Amino acid sequence: MEGKTILTGIRVNSEMTLGNFLGALLPMTRLANKYSANNKINIFIPDLHTIISDVDGELQKNLVKEIKYYLAAGLVLNENVHIYRQSYVPAHSELCWILNCVATMGETSRMIQYKEKSHNGDQSTNVGIFDYPILMAADILLYDANYVPVGEDQFQHIELTRDIASRFNNKFGEIFVLPENTENQVKFIESANGAGGVRIRDLQNPEKKMSKSAEAENSKIMMNDDPAKVTKKIMSAQTDSLGKIAFDMFNQPGISNLLQIESLVSGVPLQDVISTWAGESHYGDLKKKVAETVSTYLSDFQAKVAEISDEEVYKILEEGERYANEVANKKLFEVQKAFKLR
Ligand code: TYM
Repeated sequence: MEGKTILTGIRVNSEMTLGNFLGALLPMTRLANKYSANNKINIFIPDLHTIISDVDGELQKNLVKEIKYYLAAGLVLNENVHIYRQSYVPAHSELCWILNCVATMGETSRMIQYKEKSHNGDQSTNVGIFDYPILMAADILLYDANYVPVGEDQFQHIELTRDIASRFNNKFGEIFVLPENTENQVKFIESANGAGGVRIRDLQNPEKKMSKSAEAENSKIMMNDDPAKVTKKIMSAQTDSLGKIAFDMFNQPGISNLLQIESLVSGVPLQDVISTWAGESHYGDLKKKVAETVSTYLSDFQAKVAEISDEEVYKILEEGERYANEVANKKLFEVQKAFKLR
């Protein structure tokens, strides 16, 4: 594969969950390392998406930390890898406004994340929560992105991006490149990561995704948890009473989640992890193994993060933002011309 653009963003909240890490950051890192010789890799910090919820005053610190996370996860930099902050590239917000005039209330209101975050359209919800997928469409379309490695919960937004882009292109000509559809996105992520479009589950309530906003501490693993905490959380994960280990997200979401985590963290293909454990009945043994894999990975990872300086990160951002402004402004100009704004 060559000449493609691979792009993703992860919001910076107080701390990243293992769900964000395994759903987006680690796959993006593996894909970047596999494809960056002949393709463009855009990694950005959606800081404007972050402010849809209360900001805790640590945004700058968290943003620098997120970039250190990519480096600690093994991201190799070269001239095709660019890292930038969304708010440092004003074309994102400008294109978002223009796309607001292309997208419809109907399609945007149907977004599951909007429904969840607004508690089904609660009138006190801020407009940013409603508009968030349109800004996301702008993030993607400014750079002609083909592949957008995200977790399963974000695929609906990529499909919306495709709909908006094709409506625009039908009216104004082929200005936007449509990102690949969900099926191709999943296959692509699998090509370097072993699994694509994953949904890491809440440890206490495995029907739900692991989320930063979960109240129970034991529900989520944070990337800065110490090994003892990780072990405690995994050992207390909810499972089921079937008494046999199998990968079955429907009937055994808790056990399947642990198998999935084991595979993604260790890099051992899921099928191999499943066959190692198939038919075993001691859930405690599986939990112990997963706890060991995750806590060993995290302590090594945290040590690497501590070695990276803030200066190094700011240097990377400076180069990335110069590049991103150049590319994004070109695309924005074409769109402005289409609307007779220029
Ligand atoms: P955000 O910040 O909510 O989540 C970041 C990434 O983490 C993935 N993720 C998960 N994956 C698996 N299991 C989980 N439990 C889990 N929780 C979160 C998400 O799918 C996502 O990939 N709108 C985006 C950020 C964004 C973006 C973009 C992404 C803004 N513009 C353009 C790609 C392209 C968001 O809020 O994700």
